[in-house]
Order: sequence, then C-alpha cells, then structure tokens
Amino acid sequence: MKNIAIFASGAGTNFEALACACEDGRIPARVALMVCDRPDAQVVERARRHGIPAFVFSPRDYASKADFEREIVRRLDEAEVSLVCLAGYMRIVGSVLLDAYRGRIINIHPSLLPAFKGAHAVEQAVEYGVKVYGITIHYVDEQLDGGRIIAQRAFSYEGSDPAEVHRLGQQIEHPLYIETVKKLLSV
Ligand code: GAR
Repeated sequence: MKNIAIFASGAGTNFEALACACEDGRIPARVALMVCDRPDAQVVERARRHGIPAFVFSPRDYASKADFEREIVRRLDEAEVSLVCLAGYMRIVGSVLLDAYRGRIINIHPSLLPAFKGAHAVEQAVEYGVKVYGITIHYVDEQLDGGRIIAQRAFSYEGSDPAEVHRLGQQIEHPLYIETVKKLLSV
C-alpha cells in the first residue's frame, strides 16, 4: 500500500474527497500526512475527523520558506510518501521541497491551464467572458501553475457568476483528482 500526502490551505473539499476514496479503496493508498499552512483552516478539522496525521504550521514562525520546507520534507520522508497532492495549497512550492520531491508533486487548478494561472483563476476567467471553463491537474515545477499537464476536464457555462463556476468546477475536481491519483499510483 502506497502512502500519499495532501497539502491544503482552506476548506479542504478536495482533501475530503481524496481521503474518502483512500478509505473506501477507490484509491489503493493511505493518506499518511496532511500539511496545512493555516492553523484556522477548515481542512485541519477534516483531517482530525479522519484520524489523519497533520503537520499544521504558521509560515511566520519560521525564518524562511526553506526552513519550513525542510521540516515538511523531513515529515514526508518519515511517512514514506510516494505522491504529494496539492489541493488548494495556496503557496508557491520552493526549491527545498521541489528538489526532494520533483516529479512526485501534483496540483489541481480551477482553469484550463495555461490560461488563468494564480489564486483568482475563476474570477479572472469570468471577467474575461470565458464560455468553456475547466480543471487541470499538473506536475508542480518552479513556475506558478506551470508544470506538465497530466489531466484536464472542461465544462460549458455562459453566465457570469463566479460562485456558480466554483460550484460546477468542484463537481469535476473531486472525481478527476481521485481518478488521476489512482492512475499515477498504478504505474
Ligand atoms: C480548489 O478549487 C482548487 O482547484 C483551488 O483551490 C480550491 C481548494 O478548494 N486551487 C487553486 O486555485 C490553486 N491555484 P478545497 O479547499 O475545497 O479543496
């Protein structure tokens, strides 16, 4: 059984979807670690309810990104993690973590990359008048939302309500992330 880690900063609905899929066997893996950079995030409570070990930290308690990433790498190594899944982890991965886990870190992003990178992808796409939206899962490299694409799924929406795009997107994100993690772990 392989171990995965999930990183999140907020609500953690993708975390929840992946954790449930590991628990009921749809993904043949164990969530060995949840990493969160916001102690007040809802995902912290979700991890507790699932009994998943968590490393929750405040970046300001560390002198630099390299310092907290060294601690993250130590914990990933200790948990013998094969795959790191970023799920709404709103922080750019630095060289310490990338050098240790390159090719084994993936991210889910709410746009059809390379369009609309960054933290406000949905709002920018709505502002632009986009008619076909989508979700991308990609490898993480040093560029913001820039690594090689693994999976994408599109959906049509003609309206102008970002909340509705988020809602439609989440319906796609959860099954797409489960399917993709399962595929990656099987090779
Ligand atoms: C997800 O929609 C994910 O695609 C997005 O954050 C949300 C987290 O939701 N990620 C990014 O925007 C990364 N640039 P969740 O906490 O409910 O899983």
